Amino acid sequence: MITLQNDPVNVGGITLNNHLILAAGVLGTTGASIRRMLRGGAGGAVTKSIGPVPAAGHPGPCLIPLDGGLLNAMGLPNPSQEFASELAHLAEEPVIVSIFGGTPDEFQTVASWFADIAAGYELNLSCPHAEGYGAAIGSDPRMVRACTEEVAAFGLPTWVKLTPNVTDIAVIGEAAEAGGATALVAINTVRAMRISTKLRRPVLGNRFGGLSGPMIFPIALRCVYDLYEACSVPIIGCGGISSAADVIEMMMAGASAVQIGSAVYDDIGVFDQIASKLYSDHGCSAAEIVGCAHE
Ligand SMILES: Cc1cc2nc3c(=O)[nH]c(=O)nc-3n(C[C@H](O)[C@H](O)[C@H](O)COP(=O)(O)O)c2cc1C
Repeated sequence: MITLQNDPVNVGGITLNNHLILAAGVLGTTGASIRRMLRGGAGGAVTKSIGPVPAAGHPGPCLIPLDGGLLNAMGLPNPSQEFASELAHLAEEPVIVSIFGGTPDEFQTVASWFADIAAGYELNLSCPHAEGYGAAIGSDPRMVRACTEEVAAFGLPTWVKLTPNVTDIAVIGEAAEAGGATALVAINTVRAMRISTKLRRPVLGNRFGGLSGPMIFPIALRCVYDLYEACSVPIIGCGGISSAADVIEMMMAGASAVQIGSAVYDDIGVFDQIASKLYSDHGCSAAEIVGCAHE
């Protein structure tokens, strides 16, 4: 298998210790858990998405394991502004604060709380199961551009995380880029559900939710490939990555770095595991393979 040189990498204005980033919402919930993931081999970490008001999230069940993936409808539970104190000791680390809101003004307000401590922002314009938030506004190019403009105005690196639940993800990527995004993250979870035939009702408390894990890897790969054709800013691949081979394939589609979420549930040491296979002293530079499948 192809291996890479293990050098620090700058993606969309943020210097990461390697190409592997903890995805939003998975263990990025406390300062201690973020530090643990960074010490355990993650080259950067995205926090749980933080919104304008504290929220408890959806009623359970919120997370169910499936063959080859996870189905979740957490409903964006978060402590809102209070979360800033969790990050106080991580100001020098590559920690990206994921934020959400229902309007450009709300994105602006939430971003302002973290302007002194975040290495950068990631806009959650893509959660598929929170009414009025995430994908509800992230499928409207004008809204995506307006929210991105408000946050990019802080002058910090601004990543925009996109939903696959649209007809053409490239149109949304172009809107984020026009609004000042320094990188695009693709993808958030895929809208999905399961029904308990015993109970004759949906298994999730929220009825439907978002699918993640290996099942969605081909969908994420196709989205990254489409964005690479249409956009100029770096792309960060996310969705179903659980091995070094997945990372290489995602980079060949056009990703400059990757995020890993569900695989952390199966193995808390997944970052070290992947890094041990992905990197070697005689590895090639990422520039040699990023987007090579387009040639
Ligand atoms: C339990 C859970 C919670 C999540 N919470 C968030 C979140 O708060 N914000 C966000 O942008 N994405 C969230 N996601 C989506 C992940 O960051 C990621 O985009 C998705 O799971 C696909 O990657 P994966 O297949 O590696 O898990 C969550 C995913 C899971 C499974």
